[in-house]
Amino acid sequence: MCGIIGYIGRKEKTLPVLIEGLKALEYRGYDSAGIAYQKNNKINIIKAVGRISNLEEKITPQDSTLGIGHTRWATHGKPSIKNSHPHQAGDITLVHNGIIENYVELKQTLSEKGYQFHTETDTEVAAVFIDYCYQSAKNMISALKKAQKRLKGSYAFGIINHKEPNVIYAMKKESPLVLGKTENELFLASDPLAISSHTKEICYLKEGSIAKLENNKVTLFEEKEITPTWTTLNIEDSKADKNGYEHYMLKEIYEQPKVIENTIKPYLTENGTQNIPDLHKYHKIQIVACGSAYHTGLVGKYIIEKFANIPVEVEIASEYRYKKVFYDKKTLVIVVSQSGETADTLASLRKANQDGIDTLAIVNVITSTIAREAKYILPVKAGTEIAVATTKAYLAQLSMFSLIAFELALKNNLLSEKETEDILYSYQTLPKQIKNLLKNINVKEISEKVYKHNDIFFLGRGIDYSICTEASLKLKEISYIHSEAYAAGELKHGTISLIEENTPVFSLITDKDIYEKTISNIKEVKARGANSIAIITKELDEESDYYDEKIIVPNTHTLLQPILNIIPFQLLSYEIAKLRGCDIDKPKNLAKSVTVE
Ligand code: AGP
Repeated sequence: MCGIIGYIGRKEKTLPVLIEGLKALEYRGYDSAGIAYQKNNKINIIKAVGRISNLEEKITPQDSTLGIGHTRWATHGKPSIKNSHPHQAGDITLVHNGIIENYVELKQTLSEKGYQFHTETDTEVAAVFIDYCYQSAKNMISALKKAQKRLKGSYAFGIINHKEPNVIYAMKKESPLVLGKTENELFLASDPLAISSHTKEICYLKEGSIAKLENNKVTLFEEKEITPTWTTLNIEDSKADKNGYEHYMLKEIYEQPKVIENTIKPYLTENGTQNIPDLHKYHKIQIVACGSAYHTGLVGKYIIEKFANIPVEVEIASEYRYKKVFYDKKTLVIVVSQSGETADTLASLRKANQDGIDTLAIVNVITSTIAREAKYILPVKAGTEIAVATTKAYLAQLSMFSLIAFELALKNNLLSEKETEDILYSYQTLPKQIKNLLKNINVKEISEKVYKHNDIFFLGRGIDYSICTEASLKLKEISYIHSEAYAAGELKHGTISLIEENTPVFSLITDKDIYEKTISNIKEVKARGANSIAIITKELDEESDYYDEKIIVPNTHTLLQPILNIIPFQLLSYEIAKLRGCDIDKPKNLAKSVTVE
């Protein structure tokens, strides 16, 4: 996934708007970046590998009234100046977010026509093809319509035609793209947040749209020319900064008490829930997501089945979108996405929508495509999450699933008055419990003991295993240590052969119905020399030899216990990655929002 930005307006603003916009889009990828700006009817291109700051260093102030910019997460061709955008071909200069799936055959066809290629990218093929269409049509709209018919895959383009000064074209299919305007400026961006400090007047481009931005006017073309619909972006300008923390990830971990309070408050009353759609008419739920969002679905499954007696299937979106799915009018498909732009999750949502199945989105970014296309939306209030490794949004999504389970249990009369009171009290005390846990926990010593290892295991049973999947991903993605989450009872069926002297094994023990079983499994790995670190609730804590180290988490109702359980793992991953000198907020090879397949 990549981020694109474009601007037409005041001559002294173009380059600063492009750079500032690219910084806001850096979460979408940061392998390389580039801009193209028009000056004296010439297109100037500047590119840099790595962060936007590297590009910024190469730029001197220029008077230019038009420009486009791009920050890249490499899909075709390694991060390099040559492969970075903008790409030029003939009269065309463009930036692209997406994947042109038929670029190989197109490249072949165009090569046979004598076109030369200088990069390994699919985007260069798109630039050459659009130029080829333009040279034959000598009209950009006709050329772009012709290109639309041939280009397969996903794209959000910002396009300059050298023959048309002070005009930018935009074209969209599956990748996010919005336009913005003020009285005498026009913008395009992959995410409204990249231009929200300049304008709140936004036009969300529909699938298959072509836009022409010129002289303070936007002309939209679908089947025919249509008038753009402008809406007002209702977000406070969250100029996220680190507030004194060393990394965004640590700041976002410590924002969690407030995030949970803000997320649950709109949905609770003094004796139950509110503002949640009427979900108890569904006989089955399918939860579809990627990465950490998928891991929240594993927890959601456990608590909805346990408390609401409704069968739940949890699916990885990149699998779900292509597989045979069994759903009907009595099925609810819940998609979970922090960014609301993850391509596989969006495709899964669209699959259910197209089949007439009711859909509900648990999202953090309420201006996102997923938020706009789901039948129901349950927004979490995590605020802007900058660190690529999600923490506060993940926690907020967990709390949203607990609210759904609570609502369904209430509606199906499955809770006694006493248990309802206990749950409401647990919600009330949860933010303070998180705050105290963050204040009192110390993971530094344990982190120092394990950070040099290259294989680490996480064990748990039932709902604890679901949390271990997220604990493992957190560690992997920011510390680059290989780790695995394992159902504690499953380890002896093969993987225990990997346990060696001093292999770190973290175990999560919070379910009093099965904790002895988990302890037996821990003893099995301890007998083989593992360094056993137990994360255990206060209620189940006891002096014992099954662990070498332990971290205590406070008790709360089972519905909410996972929310507390993940916090030690978030901090352990952070400390271990820091000891390993990793780039915690922007880990290598990753991006915050994966808008490509
Ligand atoms: C989370 O730490 C990861 N960066 C990643 O797995 C993420 O959860 C996944 O890409 C889904 O993103 P989304 O929630 O924006 O859809």
